[in-house]
This record gives sequence, structure tokens and C-alpha cells, in this order.
Amino acid sequence: MVVGSIARDTWVKGDRDLDVFMLFSPDLPRETLEKEGLALARSIARQFTDTLFEKYAEHPYINATIDSIDVDLVPCYNVKSAAHIQSAVDRTPFHTRYITEKINGLTDDVLLLKRFAKAGGIYGSDQMTEGFSGYLCELLVLHYGGFTQLLEAASGWGPHQKIDIERHGAKEFSEPLVVIDPVDPRRNVAAAVSIDRMAEFVELARGYREAPSEAFFELPVVTPVSKDELAAILASRGTSLYAVTFATPPFIDEIVVPQLRRSTGAVSDLLTRNGFVVHHAHYQMGKERCMLLFELLTDELPPIRRHEGPPVWNRTNAEKFREKYRDATLPGPFVENGRYVMEVPREFRFAADLLSSKELLNVGVGRHVRASFEKDWCVLEGADCWDEAFAGFIAGFFSRCSPLVRIKRGSAGRK
Ligand code: UTP
Ligand code: MN
Repeated sequence: MVVGSIARDTWVKGDRDLDVFMLFSPDLPRETLEKEGLALARSIARQFTDTLFEKYAEHPYINATIDSIDVDLVPCYNVKSAAHIQSAVDRTPFHTRYITEKINGLTDDVLLLKRFAKAGGIYGSDQMTEGFSGYLCELLVLHYGGFTQLLEAASGWGPHQKIDIERHGAKEFSEPLVVIDPVDPRRNVAAAVSIDRMAEFVELARGYREAPSEAFFELPVVTPVSKDELAAILASRGTSLYAVTFATPPFIDEIVVPQLRRSTGAVSDLLTRNGFVVHHAHYQMGKERCMLLFELLTDELPPIRRHEGPPVWNRTNAEKFREKYRDATLPGPFVENGRYVMEVPREFRFAADLLSSKELLNVGVGRHVRASFEKDWCVLEGADCWDEAFAGFIAGFFSRCSPLVRIKRGSAGRK
């Protein structure tokens, strides 16, 4: 069964794929489905190409490049209804049946919305984008009856927006945008949409309605920075830049990217706990290496710091604390708000030393990031953070702006 946007006539020219599902009887044991389904998928793909890989989502499948088109061959179960699914992929044929039946006359509206979302940088339910999937775009157009009607409604959206086309939602959802799957009352199709991507869609909708233009459908172009440009940016900002880079863990984006996000937060917290002021931090997964990037307001601190002790009321601990610092030469212990405070020597005066230290192995970086750290990581400073492979990422890091602001500035610039 051909599924996805190709089957529904909602395929936008660009980098997307051809989705072919292979439906097997639900009586087949899962192990057999995985083994034989995959073997069949592989032999079919081999008739057309030598470029094929086995991939894992919830389920293994074959990804092949045929005539420079990205083709997915996905074994799944042919279940009676989406309520009987054994894994997420079993739901997809139901999406295709539902949309092909209902989308009549609205495919152009879906194409407009997809291109609008792509141009706004909010298309895709992958971990890096956290935006709107193709199926979600189709449902939104269907629900509101068109692109224009959707933008009018979205202009007034707020968090906890809920859409339930079939009025059959059978669960409470906590995500900012909730669109109950018409084929499965227990699934939120918009579960991947972050609050930021949702807000960006709302501002784009308002901006477009106020001043519609083709600029809202033009794909963004990333202008990478050169090393000299980065040096100039840093000189004018007066901030300090640090990059932590390491070998990309050998797993799919959907597994690695959330770990990069968590690691960036954990390292930022480590810097903050040690007195450094983090202004902005972000991450990027490259083919060979990953980069965590930190812009700091301060990267050098005096050799002393505060150390909080117990409340004086806590007699045993208070006495221990006083005893421990009996011969200290730095000020303290003194009493502040009822507790002892001591001044102690600072462990890390320089951010570079902290980032290069074993402390990085003791914070909550993800499992695969940690495994990569254990082999080796690299700390870069200032304009040395620049790397050809990350030039676009670094450019984006220093030119943050919402999609509407970017589009408005772009069109103003072109006039
Ligand atoms: P695709 O990601 O290929 O989406 O997933 P698409 O609808 O074909 O859109 P484009 O044009 O390629 O971007 C194929 C199908 O798998 C299901 C949907 O039914 C989708 O149409 N799917 C995919 C989901 O239900 N959720 C997802 O997050 C991704
Ligand atoms: Mn597709």
C-alpha cells in the first residue's frame, strides 16, 4: 500500500520521501513479521537499487534510494481497525484511507499549508524541528475547511488548543496543541509540536493575514558565517564562546537529538552552578561530530566563592560545619538568614577548565552522549569554535529571530 503524501496527492516538491507499506496478516508472530517482512522488503528494493539500509523506528524497515528518491519500505500489520494496532506503523494505512476519502477539493490548501510551514521552518515532527507533520497539516485543513480558514482560526489559538474532528477523544493530553487522531481516539497527532513552534505558527498566521505575500512561501536560505565574521561578532558582543564537540553517537536522529538537548541543559546547569553566566546555549548533530555551543557573559571568576552551610538551629550539623572550618583563613563561617555561610576557594576559575574536566561525565548527559564523551571530547574557545561543518549552525546561533520577523525583514530588504 502506498501511504503518506504521495498516496494523498499532498506531496510537496522537495526533500521528502515515498512511503510504501507492506501489510501482513496480524496472525503472523511479530518476530516472523520483522524477519521475513524485512527480507522481502530488502529483496524488492534490491531489484531497483544497491543503496539500501535497514533502519529502526519502533519497528525495523528498509530505506532505499531509487532514482534519487528516498523510498521507505515498511512491514506492518493489516489490522481491522486502528484500535487494534500492535505498533505505531500499523496506524499509517488508516491515515491514508481517512485522508484520501475526505480531502477531496482541499489538496491545494494542504500543499499551501505545507509550503507555508516549510518556509516558516516549522514543518516536520522530527526531534530537531518539533513542528507540524504532513498528516497534521492535512487534518488542520480538513477541520477548518481550507488554508485561509485555518489561518484565521490559528490567529486566535492559545496553549491547550484542542481539536477533535471525530469528537471521540478518549484521553487527556498535556501537550500545547492537541489534535485527536480521527482514526485513534487515544493519540494526539500534534504531540510533537512544541509550544515555540505552535506560537511561531500563530504569529505567522497573523502576519500573513495582515499582509499576505509570496515571501511566506519562500524557503529560508542559511548564510553561513566565516571564521573572521565569527571573530568580529564575538568582539562586538564582548561575550565568550565555548564549543564542546564529540563523535556523533551511531544512532538515529530521533534518539540522539533529545540526548543533545538534555546534555546542553545539563552542561549549562553545571556552568551556572559553578558561577559562570550562560547567556545562550544550543546544540547540533552533524554527520561525524556533534556540537554543544555556549555563549557566556563571564568565563573567568575570582578564586573565592560562597559555600552554604546548615541552619544554626540544626545543632549537630552546625557544630560539624564550624569544626570543619575552624582553621580556615577565608571569611566565615558567618551567619546569614539563620544559616552558616563560608567562603571557600573556587574549584574552577575558568570555564574552559570546567568544560575540560571530568565533571562533564557526572552530569545528566544522555547514555549515548556519555559513551561518546568517554572516548573523547574536545573544548574549543572563541573563533576557534568555527568549523566548516557547523558554519550554518553558528550563523543561526547568532541571528535568532522568529520566522515572522525573518520573513518581514527579508521582504523589506528585497523591496
Ligand atoms: P511522512 O513523514 O513521510 O509524512 O510519514 P507524509 O504525510 O508523507 O508527508 P511528507 O510529504 O513526506 O512530508 C508517512 C505517514 O506516516 C504517518 C502519517 O500517516 C504519514 O502520512 N506518520 C508519520 C505519523 O502518523 N506521525 C508522524 O510523526 C510521522
Ligand atoms: Mn512521506
